[in-house]
Amino acid sequence: MRMLDLIAKKRDNKELSKNEIEFIIKSYTNEEVPDYQMSAFLMSVYFNGMTDQESTDLALAMMHSGDVFDLSLIDGIKVDKHSTGGVGDKVTLVLGPLVASCGAKFAKMSGRGLGHTGGTLDKLESIPGYNIVLDEQSFIKQVNEIGVAVIGQSKNITPADKKMYALRDVTGTVRSIPLIASSIMSKKLASGADAICLDVKVGNGAFMSDIEEAKKLAELMVNIGKLAGRKVKAILTNMDEPLGFSVGNSLEVIEAIETLKGNGPKDLETVVLEVGSYLIEDAGIATKDAAMTLLKEKLDNGEAFNKLIELVSAQGGDISFIKDVSKFKKASRIIPLIADKEGFIESMTTIDIGLAAAYLGAGRETVDGQIDPAVGIVFKKKIGDRVMVGDVILEIHANDKGIEDAFNTLKEAIHIGSKKNDVTLIEGVIV
Ligand code: URA
Repeated sequence: MRMLDLIAKKRDNKELSKNEIEFIIKSYTNEEVPDYQMSAFLMSVYFNGMTDQESTDLALAMMHSGDVFDLSLIDGIKVDKHSTGGVGDKVTLVLGPLVASCGAKFAKMSGRGLGHTGGTLDKLESIPGYNIVLDEQSFIKQVNEIGVAVIGQSKNITPADKKMYALRDVTGTVRSIPLIASSIMSKKLASGADAICLDVKVGNGAFMSDIEEAKKLAELMVNIGKLAGRKVKAILTNMDEPLGFSVGNSLEVIEAIETLKGNGPKDLETVVLEVGSYLIEDAGIATKDAAMTLLKEKLDNGEAFNKLIELVSAQGGDISFIKDVSKFKKASRIIPLIADKEGFIESMTTIDIGLAAAYLGAGRETVDGQIDPAVGIVFKKKIGDRVMVGDVILEIHANDKGIEDAFNTLKEAIHIGSKKNDVTLIEGVIV
C-alpha cells in the first residue's frame, strides 16, 4: 500500500477500507508518512468527508495508536462523559460524585483548559493537595472502592490524534466533522468506559456555534461509539452564556460544591441531571425517569456532597476546603461591572467571557502556562434578567494580571437591550 494512492482515492471521493485507514494511521504514527502527505490527506477528508464506517475505522485506528485502558477489573458498568468545551462548564465536578452516590462507576480522565475554555484538572487542582496523577492500578482500586476517580491522562493515549490535531491546527483542517468526531471518540474509546454521555455544546461560547453542525457532530460521535460496541448518547446544550454564575477555577469548585448540596444554579443542575440520568440508565441502575428522581434525592440528602468529600480525600485533597469554602484563597480585588443603561441582558459574547477570565490568569495561553486559581468572574445577571442603571452585572475577581483587558472585554461582551430573551438549555438529544 502507498500513502500516495490513498490520498488520491480520498481526493476522488472514494470510500477507504478499514485496512487502508489503519495503514495511514500506523504509518503516520511511526513517522513513515511525512506531515506533507498527511496534510494532503486531511484536506481531502475536509472537502470530501467520510462515511460513518470510515469515521469509525479512523477513530478505532487512532485509539489503537497508543495505550488503551482496560477497566475490566472494575466491577459493573463503567460510565464516562465528555464535553466539547464551554465557559463555566463544571459539570464533571458535580456529575462524578453524584452518579457515584447512586451506585454508578465513574472512571474519568480529564483534560486541562486551553484558550477560552477551562479544564477540569485545573479546577480540581485548586483544591490544595488534590492529586491528578494515579497509576492504572490505583485508579481501578479507587473506582472499585468509592465509585469515582477523576485523573489526568498518564498513559500514552492516542498519539496519532496528538500528531494529527497539531497538524490540523496549522493546515486549516480542524473544522471537519469526521475529523473532530474521530479525534474525540478515539480518546473516549481508549479511556475504556462502557457507557458514555457526550455533552455537545452549541452557541457563541462553544466550538460549534451552529445547531445543525453540532447535531451532525453529535450524531456521528454516537454512531462511532455504537459501531465500536459502546453505549453512547449525546445531549446538545446551549453555550450562548456561561454555565452557572462562576467562571474561574476555585470559583467554579465552590459553585460545584453548592450544587452538590442542592443549592446550585438551575442551568448547571439541569445539565448535570440530564447527563446523569442517561448514565444511570445506561449503567442499568434505573430507568431514565427513576434516575432523575434518584439523582435529585442524592443532591437533597447530602449523599452526593459526601461522595465529593470521599473523592477529594481519596486523591489527597484537603477536605477542610470542601467543608468550609471560605478557606479557598480569594483574589485581592473585586471589581464590579455596572450597568450603564436600563433594559434586559439580551445576549453575551461568551467566547470573550472565557478569554477575559484567561486574561486574569484563570486560563493559559500556552500548554505549560501557569494558572491563578483564585481569579475569575462571578455573574449577578444572566440572559433575560432585567437591569437598572447602577446594577452590578458581574464581578471581576482579580489579582495583578489582565484587569484592564478583562474589564474592557467584558464590557463589550454583555449586551443590554429591550428584548427579554430566553435561553433553551437542552437543544436536543441523540440516543
Ligand atoms: N476536540 C478534540 O479532542 N478534537 C478535535 O478535533 C476537536 C476538539
